[in-house]
Amino acid sequence: MFNLKGRNVVVSGASSGLGAQMAKGFAKQGADVVILARRLEKLEALAKEIKSMNVECIALKCDVTDSAQVTQAALEIEKKCGKVDILVNCAGSAENAGVIDMTDEQWDFTIKTDLTSVFFVTRAFANIMKKNNYGRIINIASMYGLVGNTAIDTVAYHSSKGGVVNFTRAVAAELAKYKITCNAICPGYFETELTRDVLRTESFKKYIEQTVPLKRHGNEGELNAAAIFLASDEASYVTGAILPVDGGYTAV
Ligand SMILES: NC(=O)c1ccc[n+]([C@@H]2O[C@H](COP(=O)([O-])OP(=O)(O)OC[C@H]3O[C@@H](n4cnc5c(N)ncnc54)[C@H](OP(=O)(O)O)[C@@H]3O)[C@@H](O)[C@H]2O)c1
Repeated sequence: MFNLKGRNVVVSGASSGLGAQMAKGFAKQGADVVILARRLEKLEALAKEIKSMNVECIALKCDVTDSAQVTQAALEIEKKCGKVDILVNCAGSAENAGVIDMTDEQWDFTIKTDLTSVFFVTRAFANIMKKNNYGRIINIASMYGLVGNTAIDTVAYHSSKGGVVNFTRAVAAELAKYKITCNAICPGYFETELTRDVLRTESFKKYIEQTVPLKRHGNEGELNAAAIFLASDEASYVTGAILPVDGGYTAV
């Protein structure tokens, strides 16, 4: 089960963190991988590592908030690879502030990076997938898309990830006719470039112990099983699902 040999996977936001980890996870299952982000040198280093796993890997610079760049990347990938089977929307970033203090610029930046980009990338690649009547779209939302929180004021991030959750359901319903599934993973706290500084503070360590039933943050690779499952042929009847991988945070 869960063999991805012969499948082409596109992962956005793969130059670091969860995207890079998932790209390696897919390669381990035999998939050929296309990795997208803005920092090409990081992508190229990862592509070298992935190619040593005896699969193909293409690194492509793409700012997912720029609709024209996304369209161009999709055209290029279709030309080079012929088809796209699996898309993982992982690119993301955030300007943290609460509703009282947030500026228009912080709001726009976060919504564009975390929600509008998911629309741009999904539109571009769903148009390729539908030609083959096959597809797996996996959106990396967040447990913050399901609940509020008392640790960090980050209202635009909650809003964009909540948007990704319901975007997932709408796309699942719409694209079912092309046998394309669309599901979301809602990670809890994972240590990456995005979260490292906050997660290492004593106060946050204490917060995690008190609020996460498993009493720790997620570690490298712990998101991969969920992504590989949703990407697999075997998950053919799973669509519109929202899967928390959060150590139990949203269960209590
Ligand atoms: N870590 C957590 O605890 C956690 C929890 C829940 C959800 N998430 C979500 O998981 C995803 C990955 O986060 P991470 O923790 O792995 O953070 P990360 O290490 O900072 O990775 C973010 C990735 O997104 C890419 N990216 C950001 N803006 C982009 C843009 N405009 N165009 C293209 N790529 C862009 C970055 O690449 P470049 O800078 O090279 O473009 C990088 O590869 C995000 O959507 C995040 O919201 C993370």
